[in-house]
Amino acid sequence: MKIPFLSLLVLCAACASSKFIVPLKVSPSEITGTLPVASATPKDTPGLLLASDPGGTINFFSMVDNLEGDSGRGYYMELLIGTPPQKMNILVDTGSSNFAVAGSPNPDVKTFYDSKLSTSYQHLNTEVTVRYTQGSWTGLLGKDVVSMPKGVNGTFLINIASILQSDNFFLPNINWQGILGLAYSTLSKPSSSVEPFFDSLVQQRNIPDIFSMQMCGAGQPTPGNGINAGSLVLGGIEPSLYKGDIWYTPITEEWYYQVEVLKFEVGGQNLNLDCTVYNSDKAIVDSGTTLLRLPDKVFNAMVDAIVQTSLIQNFNAEFWAGLQLACWDKTQQPWNYFPDISIYLRDTNTSQSFRLTLKPQLYIQSVLTLQESLNCFRFGISHSASALVIGATVMEGFYVIFDRTEKRVGFAVSSCAEVSGITVSEIAGPFGTSDVSSNCIVRNPLREPIMWIISYSLMSLCGIILLVLVILLLIPNRHRRDDMETVNDESSLVQHRWK
Ligand SMILES: *[C@@H]1O[C@H](CO)[C@@H](O)[C@H](O)[C@H]1NC(C)=O
Ligand SMILES: *[C@@H]1O[C@H](CO)[C@@H](O)[C@H](O)[C@H]1NC(C)=O
Repeated sequence: MKIPFLSLLVLCAACASSKFIVPLKVSPSEITGTLPVASATPKDTPGLLLASDPGGTINFFSMVDNLEGDSGRGYYMELLIGTPPQKMNILVDTGSSNFAVAGSPNPDVKTFYDSKLSTSYQHLNTEVTVRYTQGSWTGLLGKDVVSMPKGVNGTFLINIASILQSDNFFLPNINWQGILGLAYSTLSKPSSSVEPFFDSLVQQRNIPDIFSMQMCGAGQPTPGNGINAGSLVLGGIEPSLYKGDIWYTPITEEWYYQVEVLKFEVGGQNLNLDCTVYNSDKAIVDSGTTLLRLPDKVFNAMVDAIVQTSLIQNFNAEFWAGLQLACWDKTQQPWNYFPDISIYLRDTNTSQSFRLTLKPQLYIQSVLTLQESLNCFRFGISHSASALVIGATVMEGFYVIFDRTEKRVGFAVSSCAEVSGITVSEIAGPFGTSDVSSNCIVRNPLREPIMWIISYSLMSLCGIILLVLVILLLIPNRHRRDDMETVNDESSLVQHRWK
């Protein structure tokens, strides 16, 4: 009996400690002090005729340029919350599923949502905590009406968490006061019964279950001026935001936007790792993560390959680790020294793949400094202990379509992925998949619903066994006491019972 009991305990410890961790959020900008005012670079105004409106009810064109911000501090959208409306800027995050706003004053936010001032607020008396790879918050769940000045017409009743306490979530110099989680209800806290914002929108307005995002920070120094930085198109696809074809990859599981990465190339050379490594323990598309994050093994292979392919051999390790900037004379552009990076994703035709190519302009990122004569850059790729995250570094090159109806994520070259007239992203396909495994995703068994049921059953079993043990331990104890044979030493008691 002893051995099975022990192994059950180990298993239960494993299930108790496995909890959802939402990936890294926006990284704090390392640059402090007064920022030079950069001149605005207005995006090409797309032609009105290109705006699509298949259902005749949504005006996608009104959503073009509805985002502000940058990759370092996040892309955000203006929302009006409550009655009378309180204006808030809300970070757009495809890596989580709660809608939450600052509900009390915080030194890092300019304003907060005061539910007491809203006549339409309904409180639900439930506390909720959400942890991200970076930062966390705790708040109170409620419902209130929300409308979008540059989004879908109308007013919607939405679950809102008012953040009352947070740790490393709001950051200095951010211009947003809340977060809009656009992933699936599976990730909602405290449970999946808290309907996410976009699900409510689809329900209440009957729009197609699809949204798309364009992030326009490519080539802009971070932190930038963040004006007209991108678009979140709710309910469809806006043709003026991309060029060429859209390539789709299946959503392998509906929680994060999890996809299957098949291969990496650096300067045309295959990194040649086992493809399961690229998906350990998951590969996700997350607008709320600043960088392209790679599992340690992949990251190390990638840095080695870039060092070998680049024309600069003497980079110090601190640059790759993200701890130092690399600076060049203002007359020089460093991008010619670096290779292209390609990510191969499985196509919806699973015997094919397509590739996203990042020019160095996307991953060697200009950073504003107070240096007069130098242009400084950071490495836009970092390592990760838990996941491969296709964050803003990649998304800034592409118009990304989250097609929940068809369970797929689409990529097309973004109309704003240009730096000094050069397009900094490419997309190509189809390619064969005979050189990779037919399945690169090793399922984490605890993620499968059936395994959850089994582990919960085992946990209950542990509990019952524990209870029986306690009772068994107590009964003889009492007997002995009755016999005036007091056993005070608990450990000897246990030894007696188990020997
Ligand atoms: C919203 O409704 C108003 C008035 O009905 C209309 O003028 C406007 O074009 C609509 N906007 C969108 C985005 O559908
Ligand atoms: C999928 O791709 C394979 C290999 O290129 C091709 O032979 C097949 O016809 C494609 N299937 C569909 C449904 O397009």
